[in-house]
Amino acid sequence: MPSHFPLCLLQMRSPIPGLGRVMVFLTAALASTSLAVPEGWGEEGVQYGQVGTDVTLLCTGAHAGAAVQWRRADAAALPEGSVIHQGTLVLPQASLATMGAYSCHGEDGGLLHAVSLRLGYLPGVPFVSCRASDYENFSCSWTSSVETFLPTRYITTYRKKSLTGEEKRRNKNGHMGPCLQDPSRPGTCTVHGSEFWSSYRLNITEVNPLGSSFRLLDVTMQAIIKPDPPEGLVVEPIPLAPRRLLVSWRYPSSWPKEPHFQLRFRLQYRPVIHRSWSVVETVNLSEVITDAFAGLEHVVQVSAKDFLDAGNWSEWSAEARATPARDLVTTASEETTTDTSLESLAEEPSQAPNPEPINRSEPLEKTAVLVSLGVFAFFVLAAVLIVTILIWLRVRKHGNDKTKPHSFLVAATHLKALPKAQIL
Ligand SMILES: *[C@@H]1O[C@H](CO)[C@@H](O)[C@H](O)[C@H]1NC(C)=O
Ligand SMILES: *[C@@H]1O[C@H](CO)[C@@H](O)[C@H](O)[C@H]1NC(C)=O
Ligand SMILES: *[C@@H]1O[C@H](CO)[C@@H](O)[C@H](O)[C@H]1NC(C)=O
Ligand SMILES: *[C@@H]1O[C@H](CO)[C@@H](O)[C@H](O)[C@H]1NC(C)=O
Ligand SMILES: *[C@@H]1O[C@H](CO)[C@@H](O)[C@H](O)[C@H]1NC(C)=O
Repeated sequence: MPSHFPLCLLQMRSPIPGLGRVMVFLTAALASTSLAVPEGWGEEGVQYGQVGTDVTLLCTGAHAGAAVQWRRADAAALPEGSVIHQGTLVLPQASLATMGAYSCHGEDGGLLHAVSLRLGYLPGVPFVSCRASDYENFSCSWTSSVETFLPTRYITTYRKKSLTGEEKRRNKNGHMGPCLQDPSRPGTCTVHGSEFWSSYRLNITEVNPLGSSFRLLDVTMQAIIKPDPPEGLVVEPIPLAPRRLLVSWRYPSSWPKEPHFQLRFRLQYRPVIHRSWSVVETVNLSEVITDAFAGLEHVVQVSAKDFLDAGNWSEWSAEARATPARDLVTTASEETTTDTSLESLAEEPSQAPNPEPINRSEPLEKTAVLVSLGVFAFFVLAAVLIVTILIWLRVRKHGNDKTKPHSFLVAATHLKALPKAQIL
């Protein structure tokens, strides 16, 4: 349990000077018991007081009734308004300026007792927020709401309220435990082994030599889960595809791999020279951007969220950059693999709508036009050839049987009429 130091201070503020002395013994006893716990404020010979209250300094070495003399280090006089009463020094309505080193002396000037006075304020209710970067543990961090000028520590505990009926019956008040503080990360504590479907009441208590003040905060994992950003983001151009970029990444290393708790992702990307982002969502660890701008460097970031939409999106990952592969025509002319370049030209059209006109370079368009013209010309030639052959055949046939000039036509009319008659 935490120490009970605030009791030591009660006597300083005692409005009745006589009572102060009685309480000295009382607090001395209490202090000695709590000394067993290594929980002092770590400063020997220091007395704490609250700004604006009457602070009383005791001359512990003095004999009862003996006259004592108080001095303040580095000062000619005691603070204005201070009173020596039965050996104690009373500093009414102490202000921060009253802080300093004081000493009391016997009639012969010998040092009886020295004390360093530190003044400050009572703790305020701390500001607290909690976050889970995975579903196994969560952390809370806090900041004080009042500058107290005094040494401060925090007592951080939680009480768990299970949401499953079975445990609720078994454990009505909920399980209590410490929110563990790690000295290397001041201002935060962690609840280990947290349950996704339980709710937790955090008690963050700020304690200083004058008193304590706590804040309660109810949290559920589903509300506070916020993964760390994905890692290992890589963006690569796809050869011969001037509008595509292949983006891949990994789960954040803080997210434990388990089939029941997965992440989904969103990707944001833009050409470096543009301001607005395009966003796509995916459940995969890679994605092909199909509407990149040819020849422009793109910047890409990725973020993650719990697969079932609990909590918040992670922060965006670190940026990665890449420029889509160069133009087809340039590439093709260098690589001579015309077949593959035509293939990729065929799969080039992108599904995503284009916010701005694409600068497909002139030569590329010309190639496309030339190719389609060639194909068109081929079909036209083939058609002309077939028609020519048919005409030639018919002319020859016609020449052979001149006696039956209309037989061909008659047969054709017959064939046409036949299905009609059948329908009727
Ligand atoms: C959660 O805390 C436990 C206990 O300290 C630890 O073993 C585990 O690795 C932590 N989980 C994550 C994802 O950090
Ligand atoms: C919060 O914790 C402090 C310190 O342990 C304790 O004194 C206080 O009573 C607690 N408050 C509640 C509501 O549990
Ligand atoms: C990516 O996710 C889609 C569904 O969104 C799925 O159809 C596809 O197979 C996945 N691709 C890979 C490479 O996992
Ligand atoms: C998480 O999202 C909620 C709303 O969905 C918002 O109020 C809260 O501020 C967010 N928390 C963080 C840490 O972004
Ligand atoms: C289109 O891109 C080419 C280089 O690929 C560049 O020379 C030309 O100026 C661009 N045209 C426009 C209108 O941006």
